[in-house]
Amino acid sequence: MKVRVDATLCQGHNRCYALAPDLFQLDEAGFASAVGDGTVPPGREDAAELAADNCPELAVLIDE
Ligand code: F3S
Repeated sequence: MKVRVDATLCQGHNRCYALAPDLFQLDEAGFASAVGDGTVPPGREDAAELAADNCPELAVLIDE
């Protein structure tokens, strides 16, 4: 599983980072991107799904 953030949709709500700071990082303006290449470590799949479900802009995308 991989996560990514659609930069055209992200508005900086930061819920993804609050829920999974190991999977997301924020730039100086508060916009998110996936850490590294977005690979979700074993056992963190639920956190990735939670982050996707909680982004108000639906900017967190999951690739199975
Ligand atoms: Fe952006 Fe959504 Fe996270 S708007 S900062 S991807 S919660």
